[in-house]
Amino acid sequence: MTVHFIGAGPGAPDLLTLRGRDIIASCPVCLYAGSLVPEGVLEHCPAGARIVNTAPLSLDQIIAEIRAAHANGQDVARLHSGDLSVWSAMGEQIRRLRAEGIPISITPGVPAFAAAAAALGSELTLPGLAQSVVLTRTPGRASAMPAGETLTNFAATGTTLAIHLSIQNLARVVQDLTPAYGADCPVAIVYRASWSDEQIIRGTLADIEGRIGADIQRTALILVGPVLSGEGFGESCLYAADYDRRYRPQSVDSQWHAWTPEDE
Ligand SMILES: C[S@@+](CC[C@H](N)C(=O)[O-])C[C@H]1O[C@@H](n2cnc3c(N)ncnc32)[C@H](O)[C@@H]1O
Repeated sequence: MTVHFIGAGPGAPDLLTLRGRDIIASCPVCLYAGSLVPEGVLEHCPAGARIVNTAPLSLDQIIAEIRAAHANGQDVARLHSGDLSVWSAMGEQIRRLRAEGIPISITPGVPAFAAAAAALGSELTLPGLAQSVVLTRTPGRASAMPAGETLTNFAATGTTLAIHLSIQNLARVVQDLTPAYGADCPVAIVYRASWSDEQIIRGTLADIEGRIGADIQRTALILVGPVLSGEGFGESCLYAADYDRRYRPQSVDSQWHAWTPEDE
């Protein structure tokens, strides 16, 4: 018996990996985080599966569900939205399961920030503008931020920020970022990326607050940084015609002629 943690993707049911789909189809028990996991993903559960929305459950109750499946020798598909590596609450579950000797597996999913970037038609790292993406959030009712992980600290990098779980703190985000990025820095808010009711709101730090509707209260990403202008960046060397590289040596004495696949 194994508990299979599966990243269910950002919303569109077909943004689930093939591996995730196949594991779901093989598990007689499915526990899903109902606040964000799309119902369409549950259609892959086998007929007669026990399907439980864990949104109203405590961690103790979730572990009790898993323990019961374990006692019956039944595999569990445990679904969380997006990918499991960020804000999935997987860490606390696997700590308990490991303590009880219950085996787990982890299948990654498409994270919300990637779906948001796709919706915007943007690359978040562009030569000369940004070569890092900071995945962060602001403090919430249930989650304080560790000292040092402040927006003002991240703003000092000037790079692309993907700010989660923070649409209700937009005024504070604008206030903290404007000194470093400037009031005319582009901002994009992507609400429910890849869902059928997806919305994109573009603006600047100066005007974004006035652009979003009152209906956007949750499930939105705030992306900030110069890359969102889609302008003012160079081309990467990788595809430059004269760039000497492993897969496209530019001369007979190129270092890459000596390269063999085993070097990789
Ligand atoms: C609990 S976190 C889950 C993150 C998820 N594990 C991931 O990999 O993206 C929820 C936050 O992620 C962002 N989010 C999740 N799904 C989203 C979507 N489809 N569109 C925009 N933002 C989304 C929002 O900021 C939301 O408040």
